[in-house]
Amino acid sequence: MGKLLEPVRFGELDLKNKVVMAPMTRARATNPDLVPTELMVEYYGQRAGAGLIITEGTWISREALGFMHAPGIFTEEQIEGWKKVTKKVHQYGGKIFLQIIHAGGAAMPEMTGGVQPIAPSAVNVNFQAFSPAGFKPTIVPKEMTLNEIKIVISEYISAATNAKIAGFDGVEIHGAMVYLIPEFLNPNTNLRTDKYGGNIENRCRFVLEVMKGITDVLGPGRAGIKLSPAFVAGAFWPLSEMVATYEYLLTELNQMSLSHIHLISATSDISNTPFEVIKDPLSYFRPIFRGNIIAGGGYDQATGEQAIESGMANLVAYGKAFIANPDLVERLRNNKPLAVPDPATFYQGGANGLTTYPVYS
Ligand SMILES: Cc1cc2nc3c(=O)[nH]c(=O)nc-3n(C[C@H](O)[C@H](O)[C@H](O)COP(=O)(O)O)c2cc1C
Repeated sequence: MGKLLEPVRFGELDLKNKVVMAPMTRARATNPDLVPTELMVEYYGQRAGAGLIITEGTWISREALGFMHAPGIFTEEQIEGWKKVTKKVHQYGGKIFLQIIHAGGAAMPEMTGGVQPIAPSAVNVNFQAFSPAGFKPTIVPKEMTLNEIKIVISEYISAATNAKIAGFDGVEIHGAMVYLIPEFLNPNTNLRTDKYGGNIENRCRFVLEVMKGITDVLGPGRAGIKLSPAFVAGAFWPLSEMVATYEYLLTELNQMSLSHIHLISATSDISNTPFEVIKDPLSYFRPIFRGNIIAGGGYDQATGEQAIESGMANLVAYGKAFIANPDLVERLRNNKPLAVPDPATFYQGGANGLTTYPVYS
């Protein structure tokens, strides 16, 4: 047996193995107040065999919404709902981080009560958001004022505080793909000329202020961030400046005693583009970031072991495998076959496809 299934020290926590359940939106908070449901309590409880669960992306405010039926962490009721989830996972000996998110320019007015999405600049991210009418193209957002930036940073910090109250072991900030944080980082979507735009340091200022505020509240080893430096879609295309941006960002994050960064593999072919050098983001960024790296995106047991054995990653995140295999760690430990998830129930279906996958027998 390799090191993937062995315990590890992670920030302030001892984890029983290095298998992380990747954050996955499952859209089962099917109530107007976006309160976590009993079904979600059962779903996460079933998966407590993971060394660490990172929950689905969870909204920091009503204006942050970009996906139907995804839960929030900005009301008392939501905090109470999440308390049941953390209690269940802890009862079963698991550890759990809350992933928090603001959808930025990928938010949907249909979900925010008609409010136009906000973003660093009025640039359409050209992505698809999951609305009451299914997947729909994003719209042009409103450029945030300096005061709105201040408010959103304070919402991230409140969300992290609420996560602590709800019993989470820590938080992961969603800084991947097309949402608010990557929109600040990228010169295509951030055209600002104030202290939040115009050069690499300024474009990184927003996320660094968010991370600083959160680590001040949670203390060392309790907050991490998910990043997808090699992500390409919509307004996000390969720019060499982005490689330098992530180098700067990780160097600054080194100062903050984070629990981890969660690095996602490239999801498309970026050969012969300015992203060629980060085709394997893990090996490019490993020498730069000094803390724990969770590697994610397309791993199986063998490649996960290899990422750890080679020293490239400290832990490995598994997404789709956890959907259909609540007992994923036991299956890996005993060389049992893995069940295949049904994409038709990724974002709908109630209990079906959420809590109905059995353990191996
Ligand atoms: C149904 C589904 C929902 C997802 N939702 C999120 C999310 O809320 N936050 C996030 O950071 N990543 C999300 N992801 C991406 C996963 O965390 C993970 O990076 C991706 O599935 C690749 O890992 P895998 O190949 O092990 O599945 C989602 C993936 C799936 C399949």
